[in-house]
Amino acid sequence: MPPSAPTPIRLTPADAERYARLRRKMLAEAPWAFDAGPDNEQGVAHDVYARMFADDQHAVLAIATAYSWGLTPGQPDLVAAAGITRMRAQKFAHRARIWGVYVDSAHRRRGLGRAVVSAAIRCGRGWAGVDYLDLGVSENSPEARWLFEGLGFKQWGREPEATDHGAQRFDEIYMTMKLKRS
Ligand SMILES: CC(C)(COP(=O)(O)OP(=O)(O)OC[C@H]1O[C@@H](n2cnc3c(N)ncnc32)[C@H](O)[C@@H]1OP(=O)(O)O)[C@@H](O)C(=O)NCCC(=O)NCCS
Repeated sequence: MPPSAPTPIRLTPADAERYARLRRKMLAEAPWAFDAGPDNEQGVAHDVYARMFADDQHAVLAIATAYSWGLTPGQPDLVAAAGITRMRAQKFAHRARIWGVYVDSAHRRRGLGRAVVSAAIRCGRGWAGVDYLDLGVSENSPEARWLFEGLGFKQWGREPEATDHGAQRFDEIYMTMKLKRS
């Protein structure tokens, strides 16, 4: 039986550089899955992430190699991450958006994706007044859609040919989860 996935950590500004490294990897490897592209400066600048991680309306939950593979001195590389951002506009402050879900290809199918998205959902539940978690997933990422469905997200819409990758265009599938509050 595989070991259970490690508990994700919430990144701080001190993690910005290693998150930027993971971000470059995700944009290069799966450009269809993310809004930004590998040549998009906003998507790779670590100072952008340092500011983001200092803002309590954003969170990135991540897993580093050392948690799964034994001890490494210093800051081990991140291998899995999921972001969540609370909508700022007053009319949308009851919603948060999940983004940037990625697991390094060498670490897939071991529960890391489920662990980071579950941690993002817990973070959303912890934000008072947030009742819905939203996300968009490319039709070219069926494994991500299955992951989200397994965690309770429901599809509510589909945008035809939402993204253009030169030779191919992919629909975007929109999903949401209503948080149950006790
Ligand atoms: C989607 C992604 C994050 C999944 O990460 P992962 O660590 O391999 O996923 P997990 O091991 O936690 O799997 C959780 C569930 O997801 C689904 N799943 C994930 N990969 C799958 C695959 N290759 N085939 C079938 N189901 C899959 C399954 O339902 C799985 O549950 P199960 O293990 O009980 O069958 C990873 O494949 C990835 O980074 N893909 C490229 C980037 C991307 O598409 N991101 C989505 C942006 S919206």
